[in-house]
Amino acid sequence: MSDMRNFIDRVICGDALETLRKIPDKSVDVGVTSPPYNKRENKKGWLVDKVIYNGASDDLPEADYQKYQIEVLDEIYRITKPGGSFFYNHKLRWERGHLLHPMDWLRNTKWTIRQEIIWDRMIAANLRGWRFWQVDERIYWLYRPVNGHLIGEELQSKHALLSSIWRFPPERKNPHPAPFPLALPLRAIYSVMDDSKEKTVIDPFCGSGTTLVAAKVLGHHYIGIDISEEYVNYALERLKTYRKEIPTAEEELKKHRVRKTFKERKEKGEFVGRYRNNYPYVKTEIFDFVE
Ligand SMILES: C[S@@+](CC[C@H](N)C(=O)[O-])C[C@H]1O[C@@H](n2cnc3c(N)ncnc32)[C@H](O)[C@@H]1O
Repeated sequence: MSDMRNFIDRVICGDALETLRKIPDKSVDVGVTSPPYNKRENKKGWLVDKVIYNGASDDLPEADYQKYQIEVLDEIYRITKPGGSFFYNHKLRWERGHLLHPMDWLRNTKWTIRQEIIWDRMIAANLRGWRFWQVDERIYWLYRPVNGHLIGEELQSKHALLSSIWRFPPERKNPHPAPFPLALPLRAIYSVMDDSKEKTVIDPFCGSGTTLVAAKVLGHHYIGIDISEEYVNYALERLKTYRKEIPTAEEELKKHRVRKTFKERKEKGEFVGRYRNNYPYVKTEIFDFVE
């Protein structure tokens, strides 16, 4: 095991599993990642651009892929402090008609699965017609319990108001082939570490460094790992100019607020019903109140 100083506020070029094995136990607070999905796009791709990474193939035998994901997730569990969280973005895939679901391997990790969040990307990645357009990906909120207590701390109301469907389009202005939008890691990190600063955030497949920028904007330390030198260099450049991304970050952060409490609404005879969602995509109204 090495000293944490070798990792804090660094973007390391290397294999995720090998690098994670060098990080000390219980040393990070939260993580967010989107691993390569093993999409094996040499066989697929129609109408939409193929995702091809510089420096890594996305074409492993599925059993090897899932074994590697479990090993990575268990290493992250080891280095996460009890009470810490990890947000794992993945998607449903089909291989010759068989559904490959992230739960197939997540249940074989050490993590407690705290929530399954639907990321509504508002756009279909594959326009062929065997199924309804798949506009969603998933984000698994994984939790490391404290003393066997699986439920953990309650979320503050202003975060819990954001429902289990996260709706934002994919990132477009980023040269990386598969970045997620800044709002995604920002929402995850902010929701579980609102009142703290200078915590440590990890992304073991950090690509263009979106999670690391989110950590920096929120006043935390980061550890990034990616196998591609090109993406590591891009992430480092992006971190230098992270202030340019603060206006985008503020758009997300201002969604975390309670406008009127339940008591105030009741006193004024206003609507005190529950969450109402005007689907699809027209406008999401959130009746936000706390007791
Ligand atoms: C879906 S992308 C992550 C994108 C990132 N969330 C962003 O916003 O830019 C997955 C990343 O994993 C990296 N990768 C692939 N295999 C890897 C491995 N064995 N170890 C570390 N990184 C790897 C790829 O280079 C790619 O940048």
